[in-house]
Amino acid sequence: MAQRCYGVRSTCGPLTKGTRRDSPDPVTLEPQVALASASAASPNTQNSDMQLPGTCAVRFTPPSFNFFTFSNHSPSFISSSSSSSSSSYYYYYYYSASAPKLAPFFAAATMSTVPNTVDDVTTTQIKHHPLQVAKRLENFKTTIFTQMTLLGNKYGAINLGQGFPNFDGPEFVKEAAIQAIRDGKNQYARGYGIPDLNTAIAERFKKDSGLVVDPEKEITVTCGCTEAIAATILGLINPGDEVIIFSPFFDCYEALLSMAGAKIKNITLRPPDFAVPIEELKSIISKNTRAIIINTPHNPTGKIFTREELNSIASLCIENDVLVFTDEVYDKLAFDKEHISPASLPGMFERTVTMNSLGKTFSLTGWKIGWAIAPPHLTWGLRLAHSYLTFAISTPMQWAAIAALRAPDSYYVELRRDYMAKRAILVEGLEAVGFKVFPSSGSFFVLVDHTPFGHENDVAFCEYLIKEVGVAAIPTSIFYLNPEKGNNLIRFTFSKDEETLRAAVERMKKKLRK
Ligand SMILES: Cc1ncc(COP(=O)(O)O)c(C=O)c1O
Repeated sequence: MAQRCYGVRSTCGPLTKGTRRDSPDPVTLEPQVALASASAASPNTQNSDMQLPGTCAVRFTPPSFNFFTFSNHSPSFISSSSSSSSSSYYYYYYYSASAPKLAPFFAAATMSTVPNTVDDVTTTQIKHHPLQVAKRLENFKTTIFTQMTLLGNKYGAINLGQGFPNFDGPEFVKEAAIQAIRDGKNQYARGYGIPDLNTAIAERFKKDSGLVVDPEKEITVTCGCTEAIAATILGLINPGDEVIIFSPFFDCYEALLSMAGAKIKNITLRPPDFAVPIEELKSIISKNTRAIIINTPHNPTGKIFTREELNSIASLCIENDVLVFTDEVYDKLAFDKEHISPASLPGMFERTVTMNSLGKTFSLTGWKIGWAIAPPHLTWGLRLAHSYLTFAISTPMQWAAIAALRAPDSYYVELRRDYMAKRAILVEGLEAVGFKVFPSSGSFFVLVDHTPFGHENDVAFCEYLIKEVGVAAIPTSIFYLNPEKGNNLIRFTFSKDEETLRAAVERMKKKLRK
């Protein structure tokens, strides 16, 4: 039984075959594939150095299969999505510039159109729909987290890549959300947060940092910390402004700065301790610097910025009139060192935006409740951006967030204790397996040097780890402006239950070979 495949838009041979997973025998698809002489018209195909991601789409009838894979070239670093109509399924495979090895196969692929004829036809009239993206984003690609998760799923790997817990958030918070929905708290919330949540955030911040803030004028509730970062950057950074970031960095900083037209200045933190090179910072910070982004505890290194480092950064910021945007989503996962909010240092509150969210602290990463705390003159810009980005955040979840933030101190103590136990299992396991493990003082990540295992780079090692060992991790080069600086490192997360962590360690002990 041949599947009819009419719409692969590619000049490349390897895309011409596929197999059906739900079929007893893999079925070779009959493609009129190569026909598609894909698109001299597409800007992507002319992009010989593969800076742009691309897509090819495949359409099949009947819609009875549930998985399609390119048989010859398993789609590493390709993400896929599907859609269906009453009579057809569409699978879209995306490739990205992070897959240089695949580039030759996909260089000619382009966004497919499907035939604009009835379904049961073999000839197709193909329209060209090249991928489109605004210049401000053209150097970006689908996130490595999605790519690794997809590849990991395909190979049944244990996912120690993407940083989300595989256990649920606390019952009392979930109950509060359900109750709020039942109580009819379901219409638009006030744009910058329901009053009780702003108050609860202010109370929590006072407990944590000692700072007293005005819940009405200095707190904005956002769609996760991600939107707090977006609103802060878009609301306070002008095109051409210099902004300093530390590599490795959480990937959205670079993309959002790029959207704002900022000029990125980069400082690399180096193993083993990823200390801030203060002299280097002095050499690039100036009156032209608008802001510096800090993330403590830090993703991906697990570093916690020390008081000495923060004091040095603070005095340089004051001297040069620089703003500080600080991402503190892992503040409750500070294990070996004290977490210090830069805003709490003398003279810093007036120049600092402190950003945080519920996701990591309450194992509810899907809720996306976050906030930005800043003095009124900085809140003004970020709130304006927020009003036009999302305007208001999920009302019942905000009510539940109040319950979360008012959790007794014992909740935070247990959270830390549990995460320290998880960290111990993973770190000891990784050391026993033969990795060089760098100390992680906070967050739920740990970085290791994979080079003892002899692979070409971090991406190649992660592919091997997924396919041959059955464990997914994240290549770290994507967290650097210059990827080569991170290609000896990979990141594991210990945000998983202990059984899962032990199982991953066992797999590595059994199968990972030097
Ligand atoms: C450093 C850092 N900041 C922000 C976020 C995103 O937070 P949220 O899910 O609240 O948007 C993450 C998520 O992984 C992160 O690691």
